[in-house]
Amino acid sequence: MHTVPSPAQIAHRLLPAAREPGREGTAFASANIALCKYWGKRDEALKLPLTGSLSISMGTLGTRMTVRPAAADCLQMQGEVFAADHKVARRLFGFLDLLRPPGLCLEVESENTIPMGAGLASSASAFAAAVRAMEALFGWDLPPRSRSILARLGSGSACRSLERGFVEWLPGEAADGMDSYGVGLAPPWPELRVGVLTLSEAEKPVGSTEGMRRTVETSRLFDAWPAQVARDLPRIRAAVMAGDFHALGAAAEQNALSMHATMIAAWPPILYWRPETVAALHRVHALRAAGLPVYATLDAGPNVKLLFPVSARADLLAAFPDLLIATP
Ligand code: DP6
Repeated sequence: MHTVPSPAQIAHRLLPAAREPGREGTAFASANIALCKYWGKRDEALKLPLTGSLSISMGTLGTRMTVRPAAADCLQMQGEVFAADHKVARRLFGFLDLLRPPGLCLEVESENTIPMGAGLASSASAFAAAVRAMEALFGWDLPPRSRSILARLGSGSACRSLERGFVEWLPGEAADGMDSYGVGLAPPWPELRVGVLTLSEAEKPVGSTEGMRRTVETSRLFDAWPAQVARDLPRIRAAVMAGDFHALGAAAEQNALSMHATMIAAWPPILYWRPETVAALHRVHALRAAGLPVYATLDAGPNVKLLFPVSARADLLAAFPDLLIATP
C-alpha cells in the first residue's frame, strides 16, 4: 500500500543534512492577498489544496522574524512574550520542529507590520519568514521550490509569501505534495495598490483551517467552487500578463464573493461579514459606478481589501480615510 509521508518526512527530504546553527538568523516576508482564492484541501496534514490560487504580495506589510538558539523555546511577538502553551506559540514551534534538529531550543522574535487577526494572512508571512530565518540561521541555500513547500506545511497560503509580485500556487497532483508550491508569475505592476480596510479587529469566530474544512464537508455550494476557480484562475493569470486592471479586478472580486457564498452555505454557517463589511462593499460599488477604478476582495474575515491603480489613491482616501495602502 502507498502511504502518504508526514510533514516531518517531507521536511527531512527537503533539508540539507549538515545542520549546525549559527548565532542567529533574521528574515522578512511580505503578506499576500489572493486574487484567486485557496479554499478547500485535498490533504489536511500536508496542506495540499483542491485547486490552484494566485496572489499579489503586500510589499512592506509582512513579518520580520529572528531566530536564535536558546536554553528554552521562547516567543516574543510585537515585544510581547507568549507562553509556550499559547496556541500561537504551539503552532509556530510545532512548525519549527520540522526545520530544527531534535533538542535545539529557539528564541523567536516576530514583528508584524500588519495588524494581527485583521484577516490579512499574517500567518502566511510569519511561516514564510520562519523558513527564511531558519535558512539564514543554518546557512542553507534552499531552492525556491523547497522553501515554498516547507512554508506550505506551516500554512497553505504561506507558500505564496516567498516571492514578491504576483505568485501562483500550483496545486499539484502528487500525494506527497512535492509538486504543490508557489511560483513567481510576474513582477508587481508599478501602479497597482492594495488597500486594507480594517473594519473589525475582533478575533475571527472561525479560523481559515476550520472554515475551509466545514465548507468542504457541509456546503452544497462548494461543489461549484472548483469550476469557479477553473474559470477565474486563467482569467486572472491572463489579466496579470496583459496588465489589464479591470479584467483582474472584476475576476478577483467575483472570485472572493463566490468563496464567501460557499461558506455562507455551510452548516453551521460561516458569515464573516459585519454590517461594516456590507457597507464597504456597497461603497466600493457606488464609487465604481461613478467611474473610480476600484475592486474589492475579502479573505476569511470581515475586512475588505481594495485593488486600485495609484491614480485612484486620493479619491479612495477621501472615501475611506483609514485605508492602509500597500505597494506590492
Ligand atoms: C481565505 O492558508 O490560512 O485567505 O492552509 O489551513 O493554514 P491553512 O489556511 P490559510 O488559508 C487562507 C485562506 C484565504 C484564501 C487565500 O489566502 O488564498
